[in-house]
Amino acid sequence: MTVYGMDFRQGLFLAPLSGYTDWPMRMLCRRYGAELAYTEMISATGLARREKNTLKLLERPADDTPLIAQIFSSDPDECGQAARILEESGFDGIDINMGCPVKKVVTKGCGSALMKDPSRAQAIVEAVRASVKLPVSVKMRAGWDSGSLNADLLSARLEAAGAQCIIIHPRTRAQMYGGRPQWEILERIRREVTVPLIASGDIRTKADIQALKHKGAQACMIGRAAIGRPWIFRELTGGAPPSLPERRELMLEHLDASCRVLGEDRGVRSMRKIMCAYVKGLPGAAVFREKVCALQSAADVKDCIHRFFSQGSCDESERI
Ligand SMILES: Cc1cc2nc3c(=O)[nH]c(=O)nc-3n(C[C@H](O)[C@H](O)[C@H](O)COP(=O)(O)O)c2cc1C
Repeated sequence: MTVYGMDFRQGLFLAPLSGYTDWPMRMLCRRYGAELAYTEMISATGLARREKNTLKLLERPADDTPLIAQIFSSDPDECGQAARILEESGFDGIDINMGCPVKKVVTKGCGSALMKDPSRAQAIVEAVRASVKLPVSVKMRAGWDSGSLNADLLSARLEAAGAQCIIIHPRTRAQMYGGRPQWEILERIRREVTVPLIASGDIRTKADIQALKHKGAQACMIGRAAIGRPWIFRELTGGAPPSLPERRELMLEHLDASCRVLGEDRGVRSMRKIMCAYVKGLPGAAVFREKVCALQSAADVKDCIHRFFSQGSCDESERI
């Protein structure tokens, strides 16, 4: 299928996850079969002002491709300016975030708040399309709350404004990340638009993917299920789960890359939750979690990883 002007065999993508999908995670997921990845959401305001911390989010290795940059803002002009910077920076497409439910984002009229302001949402898509040649998508929710499920009508309006792909996470803003994704809305959107549809939300198995393709999705995104499990992309295409040495090497590699991006202090801290995800379900995971969360240096974390795998698990006697 063709999305963003590119052909994909499986239609299996890595979802944008703020605080997780930096280039180290993207590269590991690509190795296991993620065909397309997204940056975490990037402030268009920060980009337009060329703020150092925002520009840092654009840094990536040359083989971190194909890659879509996701922006958020409520200001059409800023989105246009940000899009031009992203085009110059060599991204393969631009996604506009209309799904983020976080309070500090929606109170500024960004993210899922745009679903309550279709005229502004339309102006943003028009501004981005007018600013760049790159393909443009919009990621949205089912609606703001159960009384305003408007993803189908908004998708139609945004397709008319120039959106070339719609990504749907069919929960409402009110649902945040819990409750049932309302996949019925995918079929309603399918009837309203001709552009490709990408599904996102609790996708974990081959059966989930088949069901969503049946409802009209061209591609599926894996989000939380890929945290500490980059091999999920291999499993979803019929491959084997990882061996224990493979998991160990992935953890070490991910930690090293994270420390390169963030520096050792922040790298170690940001990897704590991810390290715990890597060992989830293995014997001794709870003790490992307790230990790793108290460690400050990369060397100590590596040591803990080596000992966890050489003993088969963290020994109870090592409890701190
Ligand atoms: C920690 C976290 C961060 C997220 N960050 C973003 C983001 O930056 N941009 C975005 O469009 N969606 C973001 N999402 C939503 C995911 O992309 C995805 O749509 C949602 O989690 C449902 O899919 P999943 O069940 O596969 O995780 C985030 C979700 C989580 C849990």
